[in-house]
Amino acid sequence: MQKLIIKGKKELSGKISISGSKNSTLPILAASILAKNVKIKNIPLVKDIFTMIELLNFIGLKTKLVKKKNFIEISNNNKNINTLAPYKLVKTMRAGVLVLGSLLSKYKKAKVSLPGGCAIGSRPVDLHLFALKKLGAKIKIKDGYILAEAKKGLKGTKIKFPSISVGATENALIAAFKAKGTTILKNCAIEPEIKDLISFLKKLGANIYLKGRTILIKESKIKSSKIIHQVIFDRIELGTYMIAGALLVKKNLIIDKIDPTIVKSEIDILKRIGVKIIQKKKSVIIKKSKKLKKINIITKPYPGFPTDLQAQFMVLLTQANGVSKIKENIFENRFMHVPELKRMGAQIQIKDKTALIKGPSKLAGAEVMATDLRASVSLVLAGLIAENRTVINRIYHLDRGYEFLESKLKNCKAAIKRV
Ligand code: EPZ
Repeated sequence: MQKLIIKGKKELSGKISISGSKNSTLPILAASILAKNVKIKNIPLVKDIFTMIELLNFIGLKTKLVKKKNFIEISNNNKNINTLAPYKLVKTMRAGVLVLGSLLSKYKKAKVSLPGGCAIGSRPVDLHLFALKKLGAKIKIKDGYILAEAKKGLKGTKIKFPSISVGATENALIAAFKAKGTTILKNCAIEPEIKDLISFLKKLGANIYLKGRTILIKESKIKSSKIIHQVIFDRIELGTYMIAGALLVKKNLIIDKIDPTIVKSEIDILKRIGVKIIQKKKSVIIKKSKKLKKINIITKPYPGFPTDLQAQFMVLLTQANGVSKIKENIFENRFMHVPELKRMGAQIQIKDKTALIKGPSKLAGAEVMATDLRASVSLVLAGLIAENRTVINRIYHLDRGYEFLESKLKNCKAAIKRV
């Protein structure tokens, strides 16, 4: 089992370039099943992406991943496609459930493993199935698998999501592509990754219109020409490194290959607590900040404060003056990082779904354990500011979603190594 060893308090300076978005690449890879020939650029080389590619290969698509150039070419001329997403692939990478919409839409049937829960929550897929049933799919759950079919194809209709779900919006979008007539999806998630999926589907020939939280999709024909798409940058990786800079920058930390307007709410909140951020067209510069002020935030669907930055932001608030509050409104169990941070000296109390963080508190290095992707990177941030040495175990969680994390931080003078 690999570990990360961090020697704390090494101030950061230099430049970090942000990779492509994992949560944009995953649904776009799933939607590639609909296409004949695609080239997807700026993909992050992280475990979840490799697992999704393995799933596409298992289904029968031909894929060529060119790692050194971060792009993949996918072709689908296979006559006997295997419309199955097996448990062994979906259990470690829940987004595997996103192939349901494209298999159903193109092959009129699919057998997809229920993804099961993970550390942050039970992660149900009822909203995905609700939407697909509305589009006319017959759905059965048997032996831990979703058995879906639509013999006569899917039929467009009006669907209002009872609650906002990124994955369910993506599955419905992909499924509606070839549904007869027109589909209107209401109360959709509108994360930047969804807008990136929409721009990919439009290149594939989809007639899609987004207004507010409503998406209208007209029955579309798939273009057979080769589609080239560049995935957007990873806004959660960006938020993570902005917080690293806010915690420990020497003078300037430049973070580039981004569009700062996409993370307006995060930047506004960081500025509100006193982080010095200079915004450029394609980068931000984090400058040494003086005292940080306390703040109360609630995680919300986009454009609210993202749940995927909650753990990282909590580490920053351990250094703010006073008692801050974070209410986790999206997932039922996303405070797994709290016991580990408390072992490093953070003063955090959990009441219902709200964390009370008292600062500033001195953190001391310790041996800690990662539990999920974003909790593990919050331990890295804590290790960067803690006295002495921090050892982080189970860093396979990190490798699911952060490309070249150690080298990006090492290039900015952090003392971090993988053993
Ligand atoms: C996506 O997960 C992201 N994953 C998550 O990022 C992110 O935290 C989440 O959206 C929220 O922004 C990918 O994009 C691959 P949801 P998803 O459906 O689609 C409940 C990371 O760290 N729900 O928006 O699974 C659900 O339990 C990951 O990169 C249902 O009840 O999230 C949760 O409480 C972690 N029924 C809430 O909705 C459903 O059918 C939001 O979940 C689906 C979801």
